[in-house]
Formats: sequence, structure tokens, C-alpha cells
Amino acid sequence: MTDKYIYQEPNIQLTNKGVSHWQSPSNIALVKYWGKYNNQIPANASLSFTLNNCHTQTKLSYEPAAIPSFEVWVNAKRELSFEPKIKTFIERILVYCPYLSNLRLKIETYNSFPHSSGIASSASGLSALALCIMDIEQALNPQLSEAFFKEKASFLARLGSGSAARSIFPYLASWGATDVFENSSDLYATEFKQFHTIFRDYQDTVLLVDRGQKVVSSTVGHQLMNDHPFAKQRFEQADYNLSILKDALIKGDLKTFNEIVESEALTLHAMMMTSAPYFLLMKPNTLAIIEEVWAFRKENNLNLTITLDAGANVHLLYPKSEVNDVLPFIKDKLSRYCEKGLYICDQVGTGSQRINQ
Ligand code: DP6
Repeated sequence: MTDKYIYQEPNIQLTNKGVSHWQSPSNIALVKYWGKYNNQIPANASLSFTLNNCHTQTKLSYEPAAIPSFEVWVNAKRELSFEPKIKTFIERILVYCPYLSNLRLKIETYNSFPHSSGIASSASGLSALALCIMDIEQALNPQLSEAFFKEKASFLARLGSGSAARSIFPYLASWGATDVFENSSDLYATEFKQFHTIFRDYQDTVLLVDRGQKVVSSTVGHQLMNDHPFAKQRFEQADYNLSILKDALIKGDLKTFNEIVESEALTLHAMMMTSAPYFLLMKPNTLAIIEEVWAFRKENNLNLTITLDAGANVHLLYPKSEVNDVLPFIKDKLSRYCEKGLYICDQVGTGSQRINQ
């Protein structure tokens, strides 16, 4: 099934050095991926908004070498602590990208968001790196179609971090085999294009409640779904939620959108609280924000809604038409619950893009 991603062209050794440069965004899941099988196969399909302002820019310099090697630089500093993760990634993708075993690589990345913001850089970072690697493949085989380029980039990104598979595509991307989306796959993400225009510039303000290291990593959290007492129901529910959400996205039905998105966020954390061992990633200020948002929404008849990823930060989602109501509320009422009063204003974006040299 995965054979089509194994590079098998006769041209396997690069003779020239080169540079590739990509920008790729972070994403926020609306229906959450939580639980996976071997080889980064998701236990359920997920769907996310691709963000715009939170992104990673990665420059990959490569040159032929008898002994392969790589270095990772983050924000202009050599980062040895990132190298084990990249090493695992390269080892996993080597069978699909054998040309990497004849290269010396220098990976230089810059994140647009602060390193210790609690925003995971793996989705943006690994998708940007996967796209750079596909540039090497294209240098060897200029016949590559654009569709295959993106599909294999998403396939490779998934092997680095599941959610990274979705960051390649604009606006809305789904990942995981499901009857809800045509052409869906466990191996790579695909773009969902049929959505109502209101979601094209949907706002996401990320309230930075806790910028520290997470007590339990996503990797461990996914593993805990293996023997989870509610796993089966959860995976079925995710598929049901996807079908309802798809309809709401097509119609621009914000009431249903809000209900599903909030239910998904709380279910994700409910899974954490009911696994063995159980754990909590929400903080008191996470809950304080949720209660303030619900009260403000009711009082003002607005559409802002909350979602969470695997951490304490709160993502506030709302239509652009409500910016003038919501931003003052964030500034006056919610920023006090954020570490150092910090929040990041982002919105749905157009996905990864090549940076011209
Ligand atoms: C809660 O993609 O970080 O953000 O595949 O182990 O790298 P790995 O996990 P990761 O998990 C993301 C979990 C989530 C939900 C989501 O983005 O769908």
C-alpha cells in the first residue's frame, strides 16, 4: 500500500548541492486525533483549521557526502536537543527517500511564535521539513506532479508527527480513513474544499495560559488510548462528529460548529482524565477562561467558541465579523488569565508555501 511512496527512479544520487526553503503553518484540530496504531496510523480521522501567523520557516541545505549527516539549527542556534527527534524522523523516512543516505543536511528553522509558548512546533516544523525533502526528490525527478509532491510531503510529515500531515494544505484538512470524506486516507491528509466562505478567514486567538513543558507528552497520551476503557466509543464518536461538522462547515451553521468543536475539546481532555494513569493538562485559568467565554457569548449573542489542544492554552475561534466585540473582551477580561498577559492573534490561512531564494 505504501510502495508508491518509495522513491525508485534510477536517478538516486545527487551530484550537486542545493538549498530548499519552505514555510509551513501550525494547525488547530476541530475533531481531534488522539490515539494511534503502529507506523503513525490514526485510530480515528481528524479535521483541522490550517493557521496563518503561527508558522515555521525551514531552510534545508544539502550536499553529496560519502557519510550522511545532519545538523539542526533553531532560530540561528545549533540545537542538539532537537536532533534525536529529527534522527528518528529521518530513519523512518529513509526507506521512502533513499537519496537521503548520500547527503549531508543542514536544517535551519525559525518559528514565528515564541519557543516556550506552549504551542507545539512539531506540526509546522515537520511539515516544513517534509516539503524541503520533497524538493530534493524533485531535483532528482523533475517529472513529479504537484499533487504527488504534496501527497508524499503529507505522508512523510505524518511519519514525523501525525498532526503535521494536515499542515501542508490550505484552510481545512482531514487526515484518516473515513466514509465522511472522499479520498480520505490514513497515510496522508487531504484538503476539504467545500466549506462556507465564513470559515475562510475564521479567527483563532491563542490564549497562552501556560507556556511551560507539558507534564505528559502527546506521544504518551496517544499510547494511553490503547487500553482506554472508552476508546471504542471515542473513535466512533469522532467519526460521527466529523459527519455533523462537515455539514455545518458546508452550510456555515455556526451553532452546530460551536457545539461539535467544544465537545471535541472537552472530550479530548476527558480522555486524559479517564486514562490509566490519568492526568490533567488544563489549569485553573483554562477553566476560568472557558466560563468567562460562555457567559460573554450568552450575554452578547456571539459565536466565539473554545477549543484546546494537548495543553492548557485556549484557542478562541470566531468569525471575522465579531473581531470588534471579541478583541476588547480578550484584552479587558481574558488576558489576565494568560501568562504575562500574552495571547497570539491568528486566523485560518492558505497553507504551506515555498520561499523563493
Ligand atoms: C491533541 O500530532 O502531536 O493536538 O503523532 O505523536 O506526533 P504525534 O502526535 P501529535 O498529536 C496531536 C494531538 C492533538 C490533536 C490533533 O492535533 O488532532
